[in-house]
Amino acid sequence: MGSIIKGIGSYLPSRVLTNEDLAVKVDTSDSWIRERTGIGQRHIAAEGEYTSDLGLAAAKAALSDAGMEAKDIDLIVVATTTPDYTFPSTATMIQEGLGIHHGAAFDIQAVCSGFIYGVNVVDSLLRTGTAKNALLIGAETFSRILDWEDRTTCVLFGDGAGAVVMSASDDENTGVMNSFIRSDGAHCKLLYVDGGPSRTQTVGHVRMVGNQVFKYAVKDISAAMLECTEGAGVSISDVDWFVPHQANQRILNGVAKRLKLKPEQVISTVEFHANTSAASVPLAMDTAVKDGRIKRGDLVMLEAFGGGFTWGAALFRF
Ligand code: ACO
Repeated sequence: MGSIIKGIGSYLPSRVLTNEDLAVKVDTSDSWIRERTGIGQRHIAAEGEYTSDLGLAAAKAALSDAGMEAKDIDLIVVATTTPDYTFPSTATMIQEGLGIHHGAAFDIQAVCSGFIYGVNVVDSLLRTGTAKNALLIGAETFSRILDWEDRTTCVLFGDGAGAVVMSASDDENTGVMNSFIRSDGAHCKLLYVDGGPSRTQTVGHVRMVGNQVFKYAVKDISAAMLECTEGAGVSISDVDWFVPHQANQRILNGVAKRLKLKPEQVISTVEFHANTSAASVPLAMDTAVKDGRIKRGDLVMLEAFGGGFTWGAALFRF
């Protein structure tokens, strides 16, 4: 028994914040942000629009794409760092939003790597028969944990959500072939949020030593992708599409150069979405599925790196 991806969907809030808009608030410029990151704009959730709303919209789009109904789902996993509340989980709120009262729902916290961790967890639960049809959702309102006076971080992130329907399957020719997850808490202070229920009783703001994060990201992502392909018995050159976490175009280019990937094989939405943390991988994948680049039968690799540090990769035949 394995797992297949039956449908995919995403949602972006309607409000767009451009680099020029940001340059009015902090000492930055469109040219600095584009040159250092590749980012041109980001979407920002409206007042009264929450992570569960974004996730629910993406989940409904994925269900529609799969030709399934909410009642068919018996597992909901949400990767997020910006839950609506400390508890209950955003997953149970989305469960309620979908109007289903069976199965199980919980959140995963692995920051920007959350969706990759989610593929690993959901694939395992489907393989063991715990569930039959799962919604895996990456959803974030990162704008709510940014220090809007800190130009080193506030220019990098945006809000959004992406979701996939994953189902148990005995089809050996398609579905998840391997997934690889790692973490190393030694570097937790290079990228973290300076608040939380236990330490400060506040939500806190993102803090980051960007140039250090950059170095680890390129090295660790490349290693994870090699490990993931080797474990599946294929090589990097067999992969049709790479869907990376959309942190920074320079990280994407650095990994592509290291592994000798063709730039046109690497899906990039960073210019339009910025870094949407756990939502970035499914958002980018949905973009490439909907515009016809990623097709059924293609070999696809997902990868991500984020706070913790956490990182990982997942390989599947779509
Ligand atoms: N506008 C203008 N100038 C800025 C800005 C800004 N928005 N931000 C920083 N600067 C200035 C700095 O103050 C510094 O000025 P100084 O030389 O006078 O001190 C100068 O630009 C260079 O700063 P660096 O931090 O060295 O710039 P760098 O080239 O490393 O680029 C960046 C910064 C874009 C954050 C880069 O390090 C990076 O992409 N790191 C990866 C981290 C990342 O993407 N994290 C996202 C979360 S983790 C993840 O998702 C992988």
